[in-house]
Amino acid sequence: MAQIIDGKKIAKEIREEVAEAILKFKDNNPALTVILVGDDPASHVYVRNKARACEKAGVISHTIQLDEDIEQCVLLEKIEELNNDTSIHGILVQLPLPDHIDETTVLEAILPEKDVDGFHPINVGKVVTGDTSGFIPATPAGIIQLLHRSGHSSQGKHVVVVGRSNIVGKPIGMLLLQKNQLGNATVTYCHSRTHNLADFTRQADILIAAIGRPEMITGDMVKDGVIIIDVGTNRVIDENTVKGYRLAGDVDYVSVFPKAKAITPVPGGVGPMTIAMLLKNTLKAFKLLTA
Ligand code: GUN
Repeated sequence: MAQIIDGKKIAKEIREEVAEAILKFKDNNPALTVILVGDDPASHVYVRNKARACEKAGVISHTIQLDEDIEQCVLLEKIEELNNDTSIHGILVQLPLPDHIDETTVLEAILPEKDVDGFHPINVGKVVTGDTSGFIPATPAGIIQLLHRSGHSSQGKHVVVVGRSNIVGKPIGMLLLQKNQLGNATVTYCHSRTHNLADFTRQADILIAAIGRPEMITGDMVKDGVIIIDVGTNRVIDENTVKGYRLAGDVDYVSVFPKAKAITPVPGGVGPMTIAMLLKNTLKAFKLLTA
């Protein structure tokens, strides 16, 4: 029977650790500002959930809501203001941004020391070089914690990453490649253009599915004893549900489960870890900036 890696439980542990650490600072609390541009309903839900988790952990949170048609220069001015505001330790611009705004320009405008999302090129570079003074994006940082806290070492293992996004695929491979206790893996990257994908996935001791295609990794594509981290959160139409859809991972849970040694469920696996790791990054920014 596969071990089900409980992301909800591990995320709660981390949120409690952050809350406890914050209590030690007495009346000085970390503060996070989230900028939300436009009316994307999913982004509004994410931002509300982030704010709620901040409040519970003792992180002061502010949300700045800007109109969909805001000019890019106004957004950049707002970021500059926050960069210079010593009472704010973390800045996060919720993605995606409207089409007329250049995402790279915006992410590069955030002071790297306040970039709790870890999307600034300085922080990306630090992930690649193994410089631990930077910020690791929340999802890959969460995956490392899920593996570690559920007792699965990556030392010497073959990790196959399916997906090459800047937010998940690329950084998780880099982190597991690091020469340290939480890394030391042999890493293979696969993606949507990989020929004979199953030839690679069948070699995985640890398979990380972050490709954004519902249930594409099936039981015949993995070996017995594999550890599965499913990053997918795909909405698929399901008329038997009240909402008319259900959340599906990138892994076909039913066919993979009997072969797996351990697996993350969707929902309740990687998802809950992201906010917990954002809180951890905000605490880190606070310590760095107030030391
Ligand atoms: N949109 C979806 N996920 C994320 C995230 O991790 N950070 C930001 N800024 N926007 C997102």
